[in-house]
Amino acid sequence: MPGCETSERVVIAVERIVLLGLMGAGKSTVGPRLARRLGWRYVDLDREIERRAGQRVAEIFAGRGEAYFRLLETACTVALAGCRQAVLAPGGGWIATPGNLARLGPGSFRIWLQVGPDEALARLAGSPEARPLLAAADPLAAATRLLEEREPLYRQAELAVATGGRTPAEVVHEIVEHLRERGLAAAREV
Ligand code: S3P
Repeated sequence: MPGCETSERVVIAVERIVLLGLMGAGKSTVGPRLARRLGWRYVDLDREIERRAGQRVAEIFAGRGEAYFRLLETACTVALAGCRQAVLAPGGGWIATPGNLARLGPGSFRIWLQVGPDEALARLAGSPEARPLLAAADPLAAATRLLEEREPLYRQAELAVATGGRTPAEVVHEIVEHLRERGLAAAREV
C-alpha cells in the first residue's frame, strides 16, 4: 500500500530525565547539579522510598527483603507518573523491574552514567549509605555481575556518558551540551 514504508519523524518533548547506572555511577551527585542547571527539580527515589517507609533502604532490605523494596520502588515510580521538568535518580536496579520506565509515562530521557565496577566501589567507599547488594564476600564480583545483568538495559538509554576519572561538573557539562544540541527534544522514527 502506498505510504506504508514511509517513516514519519515524531518529536517527543523531553519531560523528565532519568539517570541510570550502577551504584556509585554518580547519579546522586550529578542529578542535583544537572537539575539546578536546567532549573528543574531533583528527585532521588531511594530518599523518597525512605521518607514514605520511615526506614533506610538497608533496613528495608534487611527486614522485608529485596522483593519488598522493589514493590516500594515501583509504588514510588507510580507516584511520579507524568512528572515534568524533573531529574530523577532511581537506584541502579530500578530499570530491571519490568514496566517501571513505562510507568513514568512518555517523555522520559534516559541518561546512562557509565562506570566500571572497580571505580564504582572506590567511590562508594566514602559513602555513608549501605548498599545491601554489595555487602558480599567479594563486592567486586557482585558489582561486576550486577553490571553484566543490567548493561543491556542501561544501553537502551538515549544518552550514555562516561564518568570514569571525570568530575561531576564535567559530566553535567557534557549532558547539558548534548541536550542543547538536541533542543531538549528527543526524536524517534515510527
Ligand atoms: C540498588 C541501588 C541502590 C539502592 C539499593 C539497590 C541496586 O541505589 O536502590 O541498594 O539494585 O543497584 P544507588 O544506585 O543509588 O546506589
